[in-house]
Amino acid sequence: MSSSLDQDPAFVRRAFASIANRYVLTNHVLSLGVDWLWRRRVARLVAANSPGRVLDVATGSGDLAAAVSGACDPETLVVGADFCAPMLRHARRRGLAHLVVADGMRLPFDDGVFDAVTVAYGLRNMASWAGALAEMRRVLKPDTGLLAVLDFSLPTAAALRKPYRFYLHRVLPAIGGFLTGNREAYAYLGESIERFPAGETMLDRLREAGFRDAEWHPLWGGISSIYLGRT
Ligand SMILES: C[S@@+](CC[C@H](N)C(=O)[O-])C[C@H]1O[C@@H](n2cnc3c(N)ncnc32)[C@H](O)[C@@H]1O
Repeated sequence: MSSSLDQDPAFVRRAFASIANRYVLTNHVLSLGVDWLWRRRVARLVAANSPGRVLDVATGSGDLAAAVSGACDPETLVVGADFCAPMLRHARRRGLAHLVVADGMRLPFDDGVFDAVTVAYGLRNMASWAGALAEMRRVLKPDTGLLAVLDFSLPTAAALRKPYRFYLHRVLPAIGGFLTGNREAYAYLGESIERFPAGETMLDRLREAGFRDAEWHPLWGGISSIYLGRT
């Protein structure tokens, strides 16, 4: 378990503000474009539940919110929330209309108003994972609400972990730093992935937060994972 200092909100907000202009491009370069497929997979899983209202927490540049919007009925309301205004400017530019500057730890919504809550590469950065999951659950409709978390994880095959860690701690900070000018943000990324609960451990965290029917969908040998839970 990490201390809340490890995901210091001021550091996280500053880091994303500093890379906001290069965030989308850098993501696509570092993942060779695969991140787009992963978000589409989440969007399809969410759309299969025909939600009326979806909240994308830590929406950033709105990549997942846009994918969800595209996969769901045109009447579906998709709201994006993020505590970093410079990231939200990119979401606005891509045509997302319902955006709020808000902390995922204190969402400005009533209880039980959303059919689905999504969060991609955001929960890992929050000061308290348990607190954030509880807040997401609070705004979901009781009994029928769906939570979808997409985040990085380590390869499931032990033999792949060593080369992947080389990529994570050496290659990624070098390329990310070169493209955005903020090497520290990409060094933090690798460290935060190491700390973040993954696989069965994350399923336990979801259950502890009160979600039922927790599911884990490892992607690309486990370097990213989708977790689903229901209220
Ligand atoms: C790696 S980006 C992910 C953006 C987007 N979800 C995506 O899939 O590309 C992480 C985002 O989480 C946001 N974030 C981190 N902690 C947050 C918090 N406590 N409340 C709201 N947003 C937060 C950051 O500002 C940043 O925009």
